[in-house]
Amino acid sequence: MSDVSVLAISGSLRDASFNTALIRAAQRLAPTGLTIEPYRNLADVPPFSEDREAQPPATVVDLRERIAAADALLIATPEYNYGVPGVLKNALDWASRPTFPVTAWVSPLAHKPVAIMGAAPTGMGTVRAQLQLRQLFLWTDSAVVSKPEVIVTNAHERLAADGTVKDPTTETLLRGLLDALVTRIRITQLAATAA
Ligand code: FNR
Repeated sequence: MSDVSVLAISGSLRDASFNTALIRAAQRLAPTGLTIEPYRNLADVPPFSEDREAQPPATVVDLRERIAAADALLIATPEYNYGVPGVLKNALDWASRPTFPVTAWVSPLAHKPVAIMGAAPTGMGTVRAQLQLRQLFLWTDSAVVSKPEVIVTNAHERLAADGTVKDPTTETLLRGLLDALVTRIRITQLAATAA
């Protein structure tokens, strides 16, 4: 089987973000043949407006092309006020739209395999944000991996900034999520071949 590439988006712009560290952890633990490329331009994605879709900003074109080219998305979301951070939701709103002028109502997120995870220094953090993301990806017809759920609570005890995972449960869950994502990618590739 060929190698696969994953575009990873951290929903935090914070330098010392636990979610960005979680993506580094995923890079460390990725199985052979899986490459994880972090997306670094989230802060530059302008606020979504339907009025700009016909001539989208260059950052948006690049984001949409990178999602389309990737075999899958890996999202690490913080939880802000029980929900998805605005910057992440904004980027996904841009990505959820078809290319204009519309010839087919298909977005780069359609049928795209997606894995969701999240880290917070709190005891319940990211549970609600992750659920909101799962709901969003229903509308986009994305192929979200349902298990295992990677909910890294008390992240300051479990994760180092360089992506070192300090507890075995988190490591097992993260490895399991990446394995499940590879399986979902293979299923999607088989379906595309059969179509
Ligand atoms: C938070 N935080 C937070 N935590 C949580 O468990 N549930 C929540 O609803 C919120 N709400 C919230 C709102 C805002 C505006 C901020 C700035 C923070 C705390 C949050 O989990 C913590 O700041 C994380 O460290 C953010 O993720 P990163 O930046 O470390 O990836």
